[in-house]
Amino acid sequence: MSPRRLKSSTGQVNGIAPTLMLEKSSGIPLHKQIYSGFRAAILRGELVPGQQVPSSRALTVELGVSRFPILEAYAQLHAEGYFETQAGLGTFISRLLPVSNASSSPRIACIVGSRLASKQSERLPAFEETPWRYGQGAFALHQPALDQFPFRTWSQLVALHSRRPRADAFHHVDPLGLGRFRTAICSYLRTSRAVRCEPDQIMIVSGSQQALALTSRVLFDPEDPVLVEDPGYPLMRSVLLGAGCRLVPVPVDENGMNVSAAIELCEKARAAFVTPSHQFPMGSTLSASRRLQLIEWAERSGSWIVEDDYDSEFRYESKPISSLQGLDISERVIYIGTFSKVLFASLRLGYIVIPKDLVERFIRVRLAMDIFPPYLYQEVLADFMERGSFIRHLRGMRALYQKRRATLVDSLEKRFGDDLAIHGAAAGLHLCVTLPKGFHDLEVAAKAAEQHLWIWPLSSCYLECAPQQGMLLGYGNTPVEQVAKGVKQLQSVLSRCHA
Ligand SMILES: Cc1ncc(COP(=O)(O)O)c(C=O)c1O
Repeated sequence: MSPRRLKSSTGQVNGIAPTLMLEKSSGIPLHKQIYSGFRAAILRGELVPGQQVPSSRALTVELGVSRFPILEAYAQLHAEGYFETQAGLGTFISRLLPVSNASSSPRIACIVGSRLASKQSERLPAFEETPWRYGQGAFALHQPALDQFPFRTWSQLVALHSRRPRADAFHHVDPLGLGRFRTAICSYLRTSRAVRCEPDQIMIVSGSQQALALTSRVLFDPEDPVLVEDPGYPLMRSVLLGAGCRLVPVPVDENGMNVSAAIELCEKARAAFVTPSHQFPMGSTLSASRRLQLIEWAERSGSWIVEDDYDSEFRYESKPISSLQGLDISERVIYIGTFSKVLFASLRLGYIVIPKDLVERFIRVRLAMDIFPPYLYQEVLADFMERGSFIRHLRGMRALYQKRRATLVDSLEKRFGDDLAIHGAAAGLHLCVTLPKGFHDLEVAAKAAEQHLWIWPLSSCYLECAPQQGMLLGYGNTPVEQVAKGVKQLQSVLSRCHA
């Protein structure tokens, strides 16, 4: 079922009064002060054409004055064309007025003096609004099949929990999150991911990103060395840079992070951040021997392993691989999962499985951060899981993505033969294609975006290792019928990019 669209709105708040500074002792009649206050707010662009103003009754209460001066001021604003009345709806700023551009011009004309911001924020990469990051459609990364989402079931559950919320939901939620939701996640993780956990080790978070931020605040101090995959997930690196950690980039190959190289580079690292099920971005799986080697290193050197299991639900050529956390008996792994791929990213729900002795530390940091997760969608998703809708959706999506992936691989092979090398197509929602010498992936991505093909350039995921030029192609939200056309367009883009 496709979602019904909501009517688009203007984003204006209706029925709001401008700030009116009334001075009863000033000698200026109140109706003049009210009139001037509204007029000035309109001229400054704070009230815009079509925006509703408060009724005279509501304003009487708000200003604590009698209704007469308000009615007089409103009458004058009507007479001068600033206000208009819409029968049965109320009073509005006249739509005949030109839209003032005052509201979009900066309020502070000139910025003076010292404006220091933290070193912590300076360390983070500058925000760039690159087209491939936000485009929706063919090859967009990190997007599941939104048109296949079971909106009917979902909206029934949202309505149910909005109509009849639990009484205590308004006051306090456990900083770990809703108990029955954690129990459902625990049961899912134990069975499908072989994670060793109890519900009281699970903390609900707003996606993996918050999980990474919380973990880094619990585990690291500035200057702590941390091993990261290179290439790797840029937003994970941002968290560590923000925390002031010293990043130690470790090369990645077809068996995931090179653990021997990691140990050689920094045996005393405080932690290693890995994506063992489906390395981001190359898509390899951390081999069994490297998993054991990593756990053995962590035990020996008293370090932590952070396992980001962001899309492991989707594995096509073999059964899902058990988590790294499940192999670890010494509680050295912090396991992070998300609903961003299985459901949708704007839900902002994920979880951390925390070693038992660290749970209280995580709670301390959580209380200093956002206290506890929002309530509504935890209830909804707990029901969704308990009723079996979650697993049904997951199974359906696995079959769908398998088809989308096979069509994409097939199309790429037919069009490009051996010219492009495909990596990491065995799992997840994206694959990686490396480009022959002479191509620059930033140029390819920019030209592709002009054709509404949203391709993430591989080189942007590198830190220190010599970057390979390549493209990350998402297929989660690219229907089979669009794949062949998209690949054909891609071929024409590449033909215009060759060095
Ligand atoms: C490696 C990796 N981790 C985590 C995530 C998911 O992040 P979140 O749960 O914050 O949406 C992504 C992408 O969406 C990713 O590529």
